[in-house]
Order: sequence, then structure tokens, then C-alpha cells
Amino acid sequence: MKILGTGSALPKMTLTNDMLTQYFDTSDAWISSRTGIKQRQVMSDEHLEDLAAKACQQALENAGLKASDLDFIICSNVLDEFISPNLACRVQGLINTDCPCIHVNGACAGFIFALSMAEAYLNSHMAKHILVVAAEMPSRMVDWTERGTAVLFGDGAGAVVVGEGSQLKAMRLSTKSAIDCLYQKQYINSTPFDTQEANKTSSLQMDGREVFKLAVSASMKDIKELLADCQLKQEDIKHYLLHQANTRILDSICLHLKEDKSKFHQNIQRTGNTSSASIPILLDELHREGKLQQGDYLILSAFGAGFSTGSCLLQW
Ligand code: ACO
Repeated sequence: MKILGTGSALPKMTLTNDMLTQYFDTSDAWISSRTGIKQRQVMSDEHLEDLAAKACQQALENAGLKASDLDFIICSNVLDEFISPNLACRVQGLINTDCPCIHVNGACAGFIFALSMAEAYLNSHMAKHILVVAAEMPSRMVDWTERGTAVLFGDGAGAVVVGEGSQLKAMRLSTKSAIDCLYQKQYINSTPFDTQEANKTSSLQMDGREVFKLAVSASMKDIKELLADCQLKQEDIKHYLLHQANTRILDSICLHLKEDKSKFHQNIQRTGNTSSASIPILLDELHREGKLQQGDYLILSAFGAGFSTGSCLLQW
């Protein structure tokens, strides 16, 4: 697999920490010191498929390809307005092509799971050009009277077009069933035959401290295993692009690895946690800023509900 082009799109509305003080008892000082977040972009009158399509168009342009060149679209997404048809099908219509489309929900690690599927399709010669897009609106998952979670998230979309190549050097996926620390149930219709009470719509439930511990240990394990898989050393790695969940999680991983902080790229200060879209958005920003040089080794590492992790080592 090789990444041929990147793209991203954020909603137009900026929500600063100070603006949040009108909804609940919080402060910029609390939010920035505990999470690193100063502001996030949240959807107002936009639709998620439009953001996703914008990111996809950019990735296609950046790759120098047309939508008709695509053989597959894989969309990573947790919450969408539609249960069916999935977001990938609607994005396909917006970018005006006709290849098969599938949706994957791997929570915050979903983009890496989607990349692993793209790699498998390419290896089996089922496809030559695949669009992998992660589009998320976690601002619609939280309870806006609950300060513990509402301050953490922002919305956005990130996309890559991948084709045949040897950029991907190693990949690690893991899932360990740990439901209680991070979950959200959805409303489902009841039937005359139900013996259990139907789910009421619920918002995202999170044990922040448990998630923190799981994220740090899982990501460190993945990074060490990727390095061993490729027989590389930490000093060979130029860039770490980790899921932008929380600056303190990223700082803790960096500290435990005794790594140079400047290698751990962050945009969470501006975007908040955009779930599985966070890594492709960050990747697109670094790519457009010219920070990724040919030959550079990058580690991408994501962690989230499941508890699932996905990491990969790329040579740009
Ligand atoms: N503003 C002000 N006070 C707050 C806020 C807020 N937004 N949120 C919670 N508090 C208060 C709590 O009510 C509590 O008050 P009390 O001591 O009077 O009871 C106090 O702050 C401490 O609350 P904790 O939840 O214990 O705070 P903690 O230091 O653990 O920080 C946080 C919470 C930031 C969520 C932390 O646990 C964390 O970083 N966890 C990682 C989880 C994460 O980043 N999740 C992102 C989504 S999941 C993912 O992407 C994988």
C-alpha cells in the first residue's frame, strides 16, 4: 500500500473553551490543563457526508486521480444520521462515482482498521485505487449538560487515496473486549415479543481514568511491536501521529518512550478529539505543510472503544 493523496475538512463553527462556560460550569483553565484542547470545530448546519465528500475530493486532487479511478471506498464512522444506507454510499454519490462502498466502525481506531482492509484488497488485487475516509461527529454523541465529556470532542473528516506500493512496513490491530470504560447504546424499536426493556437513547459513557491507562499502555505496546517487526529503533522514527484524544495521553506516551516531544505531532489544541478522523486530519495537515519528507518513517497509532487499537509504520 502507498498513500497517494490526502485531504481533510472541518466544520466552519469554532467553539472555544470560553464559549463552553455558557452551557455548564467549566473553565478554559480546567479544559486546557486536563486535555490540551483550546477550541474545536463543531457541526451546526452542515451534514457529515458533505464534510466527508470535501475531504475525499481533496485527497483525489492531491493524488492526481478522478473519482472514476476508484475501485473501492471504505468509510470509518461511528455515528451517522442514517443507520442504512451507510455513509460511504452517500459519499460515493456526492463525489459521483460507482465503485463498491463499505462502512467500518472501529471507534477511534477505525481509520487504521479501514487501512488494513484497503491493504488486503490491494494485496488480493481486488482493487488498484481505494479511498479511505474517516468522518465523525462525536459532538452529537455527548450529553451537552455533562461537562465531563462534552468538552473533549470536535467534528471533522480526513481521507487518503491509497494504491499499490510498499509504503506500509508493518501493522498491528488489537481488540480486547472492555465495554464499560467507553460505550454508547442506541435507541432500538421494541417489539411485542421483547422480554427486556428497550434501550433508551443514551449519550457517550466514559471512565476517563480507565481510558487513559488503557490508551497509554496499548499504544506503547503497539509502537514497540511495530519497531521490532521492522527491526527499526526509535531514533529511526521521524514522526508519531497518535490519535488526538488528549494531550496528557500523548505526553505520557512520549515521556515513557523517552522520545523527543517535537516528533509527537498534535492538532488537538485546535480540533478537539475527532475520533477516527483525527489521524487522517493530522496526516493531511503535515503533508500539506511539507513536513513529511520522502524516506521518513512514521508511526500512526490509534486507540478507542472496544477497547481496540490500530497502529502502523509507514515509510513516506
Ligand atoms: N470542567 C470543570 N471541571 C470538570 C470538568 C470540566 N469540563 N469535567 C470534570 N470536572 C470535574 C469533575 O466533576 C471532578 O470534580 P470533583 O473532584 O469535584 O468531583 C474533577 O473535575 C475531576 O474529575 P475527573 O473526571 O476525575 O478528572 P480527570 O483528572 O480524570 O480528567 C479527563 C478527566 C480529562 C477525561 C481524564 O480522565 C482523561 O484525560 N481521560 C482520558 C480519556 C479521554 O481522553 N477520552 C477521550 C475520548 S476516548 C478516546 O478517544 C479513546
